[in-house]
Amino acid sequence: MTNRVPFIAGNWKMNLDHLQAIALIQKLCWTLNDADHDWGKVEVAVFPPFTSLRSAQTLIEAERFEVRLGAQDISAHESGAFTGEVSGSMLAKLDAKYVLIGHSERRQYHSETDEIVNAKVAAAFKHGITPVICVGETLEELETQGQSAVPVAQTIAALSGHDKLSDFIIAYEPVWAIGTGKVATPKEAEDVAAAIRAALRENYGEEASNARILYGGSVKANNVAGFLQSPEVDGVLVGGASLDAEEFSGISRFQKHIVL
Ligand code: PGA
Repeated sequence: MTNRVPFIAGNWKMNLDHLQAIALIQKLCWTLNDADHDWGKVEVAVFPPFTSLRSAQTLIEAERFEVRLGAQDISAHESGAFTGEVSGSMLAKLDAKYVLIGHSERRQYHSETDEIVNAKVAAAFKHGITPVICVGETLEELETQGQSAVPVAQTIAALSGHDKLSDFIIAYEPVWAIGTGKVATPKEAEDVAAAIRAALRENYGEEASNARILYGGSVKANNVAGFLQSPEVDGVLVGGASLDAEEFSGISRFQKHIVL
């Protein structure tokens, strides 16, 4: 056991308008509150599209819900002529405590390089938003370089050169496991998380190596416990299954499946 608080994150991707977002957050929080969820012991966060952040913020504040709010992306720039982008100061005003950076869909469809990811991490740090830095290998990289090489290199690249490292989270998501139904085994997730942690320790010291490391890729209520049994894996980043309040609350209550 570690003293890291497990983190259960729901990446909604480009799904749900703001009215549907309100309904889902309400249902999720009511379901977890009814089940006496201890939000301090297992942190739960949702990452809706930008268009829902203001509604989600208002709802969470009005109802005093304890779910955390995150954004799916952040601009590397402060302000100005960057059509379509959303800045860290705008996100901080919306009480976004977390932001996904470098998700494989952004790396793949929006050509986000390690340099862009690094600049976005700097923007998040600047505004006191905790980056959830996504790393992971493609099937081809898995075959040619093994499982840990790419995620470790992407982690180091995202964190290098910052004056000071603020709080951050690493989400290990093998690209071949995202939205495919193909899941890494708990042992594979554990091994890569351990390799990332060792690299963090070696490059950035003991404190950095205590960052939370998540697994993501086809996580469901019926397979989550396997991943979280490992002391190396501190939570999960969930895509598809986070769009269903029952399923996502089942994932958040993973401890009921773990015999401690
Ligand atoms: P998935 O997505 O759970 O639908 O596989 C995970 C992610 O992309 O974060």
